[in-house]
Amino acid sequence: MALKVRPAVQGTDDAALRALCRAHDPDDYPLRYWRWFWQTATEVLLATDGSGTPVGLCRRTTLPDRSSWIATIRIHPQLRGQGLGRQLTAAAVERSHDDGLTTARLLTSTGNIATATMLPRVGMHVRTNVAVWHAQVPALPPQASLQEPSRPLESLQEATRLLGTSSWIQRSSGLVAGWYVMHEPTGPWLQRMIEGRALRQEEGGGAWFEWELDRGRGQVLAVQPVQWGSRLLQVLLRRAQLVRQQEVHLFLPADHHRALALEGAGFHPSPWANIGAIYQGRTG
Ligand SMILES: CC(C)(COP(=O)(O)OP(=O)(O)OC[C@H]1O[C@@H](n2cnc3c(N)ncnc32)[C@H](O)[C@@H]1OP(=O)(O)O)[C@@H](O)C(=O)NCCC(=O)NCCS
Repeated sequence: MALKVRPAVQGTDDAALRALCRAHDPDDYPLRYWRWFWQTATEVLLATDGSGTPVGLCRRTTLPDRSSWIATIRIHPQLRGQGLGRQLTAAAVERSHDDGLTTARLLTSTGNIATATMLPRVGMHVRTNVAVWHAQVPALPPQASLQEPSRPLESLQEATRLLGTSSWIQRSSGLVAGWYVMHEPTGPWLQRMIEGRALRQEEGGGAWFEWELDRGRGQVLAVQPVQWGSRLLQVLLRRAQLVRQQEVHLFLPADHHRALALEGAGFHPSPWANIGAIYQGRTG
């Protein structure tokens, strides 16, 4: 079957996109974060068959290092294994190339055999593996007052040094994580993180980058540790309480060796990507 791939139109195509996600999994994660699904995409692509029936979707986002992040690839379950996923992913890679982006990346669970088979066919190979862990943030009593448990780094020089010497970042092959995206750190990006007070340190030596889905109204504090500290996990949960987030999602290098500490602090492996693989390829 020859696919037609076109940019989806927000509002007009939402029902078709949601139906495809639901057909894949009634609790597919974009359904929970629909605003984010659109907000974070440079382009949402909808694939249709010859008669115009929606059969698949994916998203792509241009990241601060001018790479293209491809995500949420979904082919209707009844149509899988016929080459449609490959066509759709190749189209997303090609459209990235047309936009002048030379590198494409994506994150998928290492257990996803279909994706692992498909991606080398479009020139993408594993760059690094990451582990994603979640924790529910304990609810705060209504009148409770919390002290800020961390401080933001304010100097670009200090931040650059911290990043350059971080074994945690090195073990993620030098990539930094945003909200389920990974890219090379750039100077302007690091400056923005500092201005946004998103590179933080706590007294025990722990340091991390953090991202909120939507400050004040979102649910998730996404975190990538830059330095480990013995109280880091407890501090992160307190920090999430303070900024009124309900979950913490932690991005770690796959060889983190911190499972016991994580479980002890109430974290558990993400149901969809205990170990995720970051694939990377050139677009041209
Ligand atoms: C992953 C997905 C997009 C692949 O789409 P698809 O249309 O089924 O894949 P294709 O038919 O294009 O297959 C591409 C290659 O992978 C192989 N493949 C597909 N499914 C496979 C499976 N379950 N097991 C082993 N190989 C598989 C195909 O044989 C093909 O290899 P070939 O080129 O040697 O023939 C689709 O299975 C899907 O929507 N899965 C659920 C969501 C998901 O996991 N998304 C990816 C992460 S964002």
